[in-house]
Amino acid sequence: MTDQASAAETAAPEIPGKPTAASRTTLSHIMTHNDTNLLGTVHGGVIMKLVDDAAGAVAGRHSGGPAVTASMDEMVFLEPVRVGDLVHVKAQVNWTGRTSMEVGVRVLAERWNESTPATQVGSAYLVFAAVDADGKPRPVPQVVPESERDERRYQEAQIRRTHRLARRRAIRELREKRAAEGIED
Ligand SMILES: CC(C)(COP(=O)(O)OP(=O)(O)OC[C@H]1O[C@@H](n2cnc3c(N)ncnc32)[C@H](O)[C@@H]1OP(=O)(O)O)[C@@H](O)C(=O)NCCC(=O)NCCS
Repeated sequence: MTDQASAAETAAPEIPGKPTAASRTTLSHIMTHNDTNLLGTVHGGVIMKLVDDAAGAVAGRHSGGPAVTASMDEMVFLEPVRVGDLVHVKAQVNWTGRTSMEVGVRVLAERWNESTPATQVGSAYLVFAAVDADGKPRPVPQVVPESERDERRYQEAQIRRTHRLARRRAIRELREKRAAEGIED
């Protein structure tokens, strides 16, 4: 059984799958003086908000309803973003579980004073859980990768998922062991 098959088998069988393109989204925003840090470049938190916004739009669109951010991984800032830059935040569902989705995000900046192609300035991976009206996780449609690139992203997302779960489990077990030994911190 492949990992992809195991994820599909945990999905609610009555929900048809959705192709990646059905929810892929780009959010664009011009950076202003309100967005800067003490150095005069754009504050990382401003970019993170745009990343969460774009990923949330994708997760909501894919799952057909509300979805909440469960985690944000590997937020990387590759280049500074400057006032006046036109920032494009591109997001897509990389992987789906039973009630959760990993959304991959790339952040590009078009420099206001250069007629060069947009530069990649950041990336991140977010996990969203689809929730019902009571905030309880609800099943999501399985994402259907459409290209070799989507397929690679699906497989890489599964590697991240495995590591996230293993890390959480290892930390929980360590804490339980220390508590059982009566160690207080
Ligand atoms: C995310 C949330 C709905 C999970 O609820 P829960 O009762 O722990 O439910 P589960 O354990 O069944 O998790 C639901 C899914 O989310 C995934 N998940 C939960 N926490 C996760 C984490 N920290 N990282 C990655 N995935 C996570 C689970 O693996 C599960 O996925 P699956 O169904 O595809 O296997 C709940 O913790 C929550 O509401 N958090 C607050 C979200 C929020 O307010 N976000 C905005 C921040 S201001």
